[in-house]
Amino acid sequence: MEQSKAEFLEQFGADYGYPDAPRGIDELRATEFKRLEGTVYLDHAGATLYSEAQMANVVKDLTTNVYGNPHSQSDSSMAASDLVASARHQVLKYFNASPRDYRCVFTSGATSALKLVGECFPWSRDSCYVYTMENHNSVLGIRDDTIAFLVSSVISRDFKAFKFKYLKMSSSNLKYALGKGANVLAVDVEEVGDLPKNHGSDTVFKISRHSIQRRGDDALFHNHQNGCLTASSGNHMNLFAFPSECNFSGHKFNLSLVKHIKEGKFIGFPSQKQGQWMVLIDAAKGCTTEPPNLAVYPADFVVCSFYKIFGYPTGLGALIVKNGYVDNQSFKVVDDPLSKKGISSNELLPIFMTEAASLLNKTYFSGGTVAASIADIDFVRRRKGIEQVLEDGTVSFLSISSLRYGFNIIDTLTISAIARHTASLATYVRTKMLDLKHSNEKNVCTIYGQQASKVNDLKMGPTITFNLKREDGTWFGYREVEKLASLSGIHLRTGCFCNPGACAKYLGLSHSDLVSNFEAGHVCWDDNDIINGKPTGAVRISFGYMSTYEDAEEFLKFLRSSFVSKAIALNNGHMLNINALVLVDDWSSQAVSDIHLKSITIYPVKSCQGFSVQSWPLTTGGLKYDREWLLQGSGGEILTQKKVPELSSIHTLIDLELGKLFIESPKCKDKLQISLEHLTHLTAELDVYGQRYEVQSYCDTINTWFSEAIGRPCSFMRCSSSKYRSCSIAGGRDNLCRDARSKLSFVNEGQLLLISEESVSDLNSRLHSSNANGKQRVVVDAMRFRPNIVTSGSTPYNEDNWKRLRIGDAYFTSMGGCNRCQMINLYQNSGQVVKAKEPLATLASYRRQKGKILFGVLLNYEDGMDGEDDTVVERWLQVGQEVYPYTD
Ligand SMILES: Cc1ncc(COP(=O)(O)O)c(C=O)c1O
Repeated sequence: MEQSKAEFLEQFGADYGYPDAPRGIDELRATEFKRLEGTVYLDHAGATLYSEAQMANVVKDLTTNVYGNPHSQSDSSMAASDLVASARHQVLKYFNASPRDYRCVFTSGATSALKLVGECFPWSRDSCYVYTMENHNSVLGIRDDTIAFLVSSVISRDFKAFKFKYLKMSSSNLKYALGKGANVLAVDVEEVGDLPKNHGSDTVFKISRHSIQRRGDDALFHNHQNGCLTASSGNHMNLFAFPSECNFSGHKFNLSLVKHIKEGKFIGFPSQKQGQWMVLIDAAKGCTTEPPNLAVYPADFVVCSFYKIFGYPTGLGALIVKNGYVDNQSFKVVDDPLSKKGISSNELLPIFMTEAASLLNKTYFSGGTVAASIADIDFVRRRKGIEQVLEDGTVSFLSISSLRYGFNIIDTLTISAIARHTASLATYVRTKMLDLKHSNEKNVCTIYGQQASKVNDLKMGPTITFNLKREDGTWFGYREVEKLASLSGIHLRTGCFCNPGACAKYLGLSHSDLVSNFEAGHVCWDDNDIINGKPTGAVRISFGYMSTYEDAEEFLKFLRSSFVSKAIALNNGHMLNINALVLVDDWSSQAVSDIHLKSITIYPVKSCQGFSVQSWPLTTGGLKYDREWLLQGSGGEILTQKKVPELSSIHTLIDLELGKLFIESPKCKDKLQISLEHLTHLTAELDVYGQRYEVQSYCDTINTWFSEAIGRPCSFMRCSSSKYRSCSIAGGRDNLCRDARSKLSFVNEGQLLLISEESVSDLNSRLHSSNANGKQRVVVDAMRFRPNIVTSGSTPYNEDNWKRLRIGDAYFTSMGGCNRCQMINLYQNSGQVVKAKEPLATLASYRRQKGKILFGVLLNYEDGMDGEDDTVVERWLQVGQEVYPYTD
């Protein structure tokens, strides 16, 4: 055993790996998760994974038993309804909820359970909906957006003016808190003092309201000063929502909060004198390792999704709702801070106690929810059970029947062992991450969440959310981390994880940062990961019951190799640091250059195979006919090899003398011949990566040929040769279109891609050493990069420094390095497209600059306009021509 694992086991051996279970983690992983070979899956907070035995049991069950629609009395119906009933019990048991006190309502997931509570809660103008800042969007949605449709232009930059304009919607849309005139408030919850967790009676919570409060409509601003917490006219209902574990930071909320809210026993928050508080726990994340114990913390509503607990089934969740009798003893106020202010404790006792289940008022009725109804008059009688009232239509009985196989695993391992196993991994990785330092001793990782540095118990969930800094203190963007992780086979999550409150809190983003990020074009999950020098989101890893020490080590190895700067190595010559390179001589002044043109390749159809020639003419758009055609999918999308690998098996050739484009595919019997003069009448406008083109389309026969070749409907389009469109948005989306003046065909960025043979050789020697232990030697040739021209005779990466170059009497401007993506990892093997890790993974280790992985340079032809009369002089490139680079 490796020494590092031995050290890990010495520290965590009692908790890691299920020492008391029939099978330990290594056996479990080897037998049940063979598909994880070569993959490090670290997004269990997003969705955990199902085991092989679980799925085998599901298939066996469904293929040997007959289950019918449970709304009937036949044997098959009864079999299904018995399973549904027993699954309800199993879910309640998971939350230690007595069937006497709680009901399990199946929903399509945690979100639909939250929506159900929001829609059916008896909101009134005196009600309050209070939620913690750290909450998922699905919880925030209960406040309703229909009435408070913010017109963003009226938000003052500093938010001081605090003027919101609402677009009023029709009242039939108003189902949620604000829409029903209730008051809404976001709060921060803090445990005051260092009191032991879960000792309900001793814990004191400080609840502070957030800066912005709103009421359901303008009239309700009457009590604006005190927000939602003063006006009350009767026995109204209030709802308090919080997650048992924050899906952003992993912070676990102290569940004693349930009783404290119900008793009004917290400080910093004027208590409601009348009305009753209901508490909703969003356990979607928390219940995967610590389901709220409802016998101890009697929340009124708890929601969950089952794929988060054991991976399968998706599309199934539950609302656990309180339905039992209310023990008034549990509402006794023990230490009421407000009594010191002369308010009697008795006043704090809710005047009446209503069971949560009976509060939910559902107006829609459907099959499954009605006992009787008459079609042509307004007569409906609902079923009695809360499950039947709230579950519309036929429940997902086959998915429900498979829950028991998921619970089997959890029961075998035990939830407390799962919590300890995953916590040991998270604690270990957190500690190691905090120890990571650059060569200048600056920290690499910023971890978000309470006490991130000293958490070594179960107070945090098995989630680590972080951002990474460079040696100079600037941030690595989360997309860069994600792209590199995926090259290393690591699956993690980036962004804000649908938790905008926690994201803003931990990243220190103000309201105006959030609005300006949005206005700068940033939306959840996109590539705008750093705006104005600040991260717009973070990276999250999370462990599941089948995660291993080896997963943790692979992740740490990835951080060390990709993000930690080392003391400068002497053989670091080809890192992307132009200042460190000795600039080459100005070759242009030499009579003879050592560099020459090795090959010329034209790719007439975007993403299809090209053909190489000895000489080829240049036009104002670069090499004649290069990327002049493309294929458009039936949804209007541009097809590329990344989405449609079959494109790589289509071969093309242009015969200039015959004036024909020939196209061949192994899937089509006939070769396609298209006249270069052949133009149809139909023209259209098309957007390709932020540029507008005028395109011409082809007849059905040609489109059918291509559809057959790639196995999906598509249309063949030609960039209108007479109307090349100039790049419309310089530096626009994804920073494509680097030179707004150049005319481009359907190339992505520059007109021509130049690859140097020497850079390819250097890459191959690095591939050889980084994969020395691998089974197969990885070798790439220049063509893997789809270059238009390959040069020979230079030194590796010398092309990085070229500003301009001359080939024959044609001049080209360098547009800079070409940003490489996964497409260079695709190659053909026996007619199949194979996706590998290399060469991108190795390139990522030494050719990264500002989040891009650069290899090759893009060139624009300094076109053929000569003299004042704009005569186009036709120039040709010729294999063997000398290449003269200019470096300034
Ligand atoms: C804390 C939390 N709440 C709610 C949800 C929504 O769950 P679902 O998408 O399964 O409905 C999630 C999902 O990630 C979550 O993490």
